[in-house]
Amino acid sequence: MSATPQFEEGTTLDRYLIQTMRSSPGATGNFIDLIQSIALAGKLISSRVNRAGLLGMFGGTGETNVQGEFVQKLDVYANTTFLRALEHRGHTCMIVSEENEGPVQVGSEWHSGRYVVTVDPLDGSSNIDVNATIGTIFGIFRRKSEEGSAADLGDVLRSGRDLVAAGYLIYGSGTVMVLAMDNGVHGFTLDPQVGEFFLSHPNIRVPDGCPIFSVNEANASRWQPGVTEFVRRVKEPVRKSSGRYIGSLVADFHRNLLKGGVFLYPGDTRNARGKLRLLYEAFPLAFVAEKAGGYATDGRVAILDKVAETLHDRTPLVIGGKAIVEEATSLMSADPKLT
Ligand code: AHG
Ligand code: MN
Ligand code: MN
Repeated sequence: MSATPQFEEGTTLDRYLIQTMRSSPGATGNFIDLIQSIALAGKLISSRVNRAGLLGMFGGTGETNVQGEFVQKLDVYANTTFLRALEHRGHTCMIVSEENEGPVQVGSEWHSGRYVVTVDPLDGSSNIDVNATIGTIFGIFRRKSEEGSAADLGDVLRSGRDLVAAGYLIYGSGTVMVLAMDNGVHGFTLDPQVGEFFLSHPNIRVPDGCPIFSVNEANASRWQPGVTEFVRRVKEPVRKSSGRYIGSLVADFHRNLLKGGVFLYPGDTRNARGKLRLLYEAFPLAFVAEKAGGYATDGRVAILDKVAETLHDRTPLVIGGKAIVEEATSLMSADPKLT
């Protein structure tokens, strides 16, 4: 894929995709259709999130998911909406979702689909009822298995380096879709009055430095020495760094992507692998971070160099600007292994 052509004000997501894919050899339009399906899901979820309080969509369903977490009504809506937006379009053969224990085969009539999608349909569920920013995170693989047959676990239990695209939608003061592909990272803002995403953040690059660090310090008593030392250093006055923690990974990451900084959710003596999931949180955001000149590790190795062993693998996560992530990783990699 060639370098991103310059786009004028008011470029729609569709125009960006068509112009970008035009220079991709062998592009069949399936990928464009897949991104448009994700954008549709984002519009529907955004609309429901913005009116959740009026539609009785706050609170839980009373069930717990495979993660052992209480499922929120909006988790279910977002998951159903995302799955339905991708099924029956012919571009996707399998979906792995935080909210589904097993892989979702899109349907025998669509075994021709060439993409496998991983998704956290609603990230930051604990923030829904308090109207804080939440989002949807997605990763896209090209299937390894034969088109025309059912997809299998080998299509998704693989290295993060196999991702062909990834991104997220963030439902905050506005709704923004951030999309990362080989040619870079671009942000599109939804104009709800016309129902269209317009290019608003072309060629996102993570700024240098560490103006912001994000970590849940309530876990500090369980941290390994390397984490404790890194957080102590980043709080030294000379660093002029501020602490910000929204509690929605997608929101904490998006702020650091645009302004610079680092987010950490390390493993600790209670959760050796931390809390966040590899396939549909860490992999996609690590892909975005690296395509924007940033970096992501698990405190030892690059997130994208890891191989998913189960659908809901958890991983420690350090993500943001390249230099600050490397500084944290150099301290954390000296810690005794927790697993
Ligand atoms: P999800 O809502 O998809 O389960 O993800 C929540 C995650 C992530 O968004 C956030 O960074 C983290 O939970 C916050 O965890 P703590 O409340 O333990 O800090
Ligand atoms: Mn999440
Ligand atoms: Mn979630």
